[in-house]
Amino acid sequence: MKKLIERITEEAAKAFEKAGYDSSYARVTVSNRPDLCEYQCNGAMAAKKAYQKAPLLIAEDVAAAMDGSEVCEEVTAVKPGFINIKIAKPFLAEYLQQMYEDERLSSELSSEPKTIIVDYGGPNVAKPLHVGHLRSAIIGESLKRMGRFLGHRMIGDVHLGDWGLQMGLIITELKERKPELPYFDESFEGEYPSEAPFTISELEEIYPAASARSKEDEDYRERALAATHELQEGRRGYMALWNHIMTVSVNDLKENYKKLDVEFDLWKKESDAQPYIPEMIQRMKEEGFAYEDQGALVVDVKEETDSKEIPPCMLLKSDGASLYTTTDLATIVERMKLFQPDEILYVVDKRQELHFIQVFRCARKTGLVKPDTKLSFLGFGTMNGKDGKPFKTREGGVMRLENLIRDIDQEMYRKIVENKSVKDTDAEKTAEMVGLSAIKYGDLSNQASKDYVFDTERFTSFEGNTGPYILYTIVRIKSILARYVEEGGSLQGNVLMPAASDSEKALMLETARFNSVVDNAFEEKAPHKICSYIYELSNDFNRFYHETKILTEENSGQKASWILLLDLVRRVLEECTGLLGFSAPERM
Ligand code: ARG
Repeated sequence: MKKLIERITEEAAKAFEKAGYDSSYARVTVSNRPDLCEYQCNGAMAAKKAYQKAPLLIAEDVAAAMDGSEVCEEVTAVKPGFINIKIAKPFLAEYLQQMYEDERLSSELSSEPKTIIVDYGGPNVAKPLHVGHLRSAIIGESLKRMGRFLGHRMIGDVHLGDWGLQMGLIITELKERKPELPYFDESFEGEYPSEAPFTISELEEIYPAASARSKEDEDYRERALAATHELQEGRRGYMALWNHIMTVSVNDLKENYKKLDVEFDLWKKESDAQPYIPEMIQRMKEEGFAYEDQGALVVDVKEETDSKEIPPCMLLKSDGASLYTTTDLATIVERMKLFQPDEILYVVDKRQELHFIQVFRCARKTGLVKPDTKLSFLGFGTMNGKDGKPFKTREGGVMRLENLIRDIDQEMYRKIVENKSVKDTDAEKTAEMVGLSAIKYGDLSNQASKDYVFDTERFTSFEGNTGPYILYTIVRIKSILARYVEEGGSLQGNVLMPAASDSEKALMLETARFNSVVDNAFEEKAPHKICSYIYELSNDFNRFYHETKILTEENSGQKASWILLLDLVRRVLEECTGLLGFSAPERM
């Protein structure tokens, strides 16, 4: 179904034409003066030059021509040439009725579905997940869900970091601690027990210990580098250890992501891209893109229009080792081969922007992707503590993701038990659901590229621009609907009547924007636009709810109409929270 704004634009276009002006001036926007009107058109001002006429006169002509259209209730021309539009209530009710009857709430599937790989999450195996990885998971998951809702083939890939120095460090540390293990023997042959010789907690303690030691102990660091190299060359015993590390770590990661309700279609990893490297490099050399510079192999990626210097893209270091860049390029090769994507979208810390500029340019220049393959980078800002510095534990250490989640859940649990609205047995589950909304909404309601302050107190509040407030609104609607049904009412077959009050009309107008908002938010890769929308919608609902006695209304047609509207608002809110990656409990 057409978007409301498109319907109004159509009417405006007809009116421009009828009044003798070109219809291309009929651009309509949501009003920025809701006290004066609901939608507005500034086309008369734009048309001034072409018609050598005062904009107000043009606006008056158009307003007169638009009068009487079934879409508008009132069209007025005001100085210096605005055309202010109010929507006709019967038309609006009709629009929402159709929306209600449509499973997709009048949101159309994309007419050009794309295959889009979303590279997000990006945790590093054997290192604990910390809050820095939270943003990527939350934002990426939301974009994936939005694209999927709009009919695109979205492929989420966690792209594990499994091929770096951390592996060599762990191997070196294990050798010190457990020299009796068979894996360090150079003649070790493939067979090994499936049981890993360490647990996840050990692993999580081993990595930071090894990392700290390598910074002080030069010899230790050399050994870790050598072990990394040998692993990359395929030494059997080390490969066996790598396998153990992977199993233990990936199981743990999966549990963590499950708690966040983040789900990947692919669990690919950096090491999967390694087999593509030799041929890729060979080709880049043969085609004259890659050349040697002080022993290293590089590809120039600077462009004439650059305002700052973009250094060459390095493929191999002088010792022949490949780099993060090389892996990302080879991953592109693999993705093109396996999925032929129209777009690859990376959701990564914005401090990695230069890396991605280099990778994208190199991939394009050397023909790893087709000319029309989109490579996009959504760089997100840092999550800070209240002191404005990167989020830390109270003791000043790196905050582990599971601890952050635990803290929030405890805070939510406290509030929920205090409210006494759910049975004790449900309180924990409810706290988890509401806690997740606090974390995700707190993150997503900020424009992704900006840094933001993680404020537990504010994020967990049931009031204000928060996840719990949105869920509270949904739960409130659910309970009214349940009461209506308990009292013998039905949610089926109701008819929506034209708005009976200003607050009802405002709620209806906001509800009708759903399809526009979702399209626009995906187009701009901006989940925060969905957040602002549901915040407005919740406010509009609560205003309406406080002014309207719904369940005690005597006119059953009116009551049924309001119930339909409530159910519609609930569906819109729930669809949106689903796109953001969280959902509402039955009670809270
Ligand atoms: N593992 C990397 C990190 O923690 C992020 C990976 C991002 N994705 C990518 N294709 N480079 O910094």
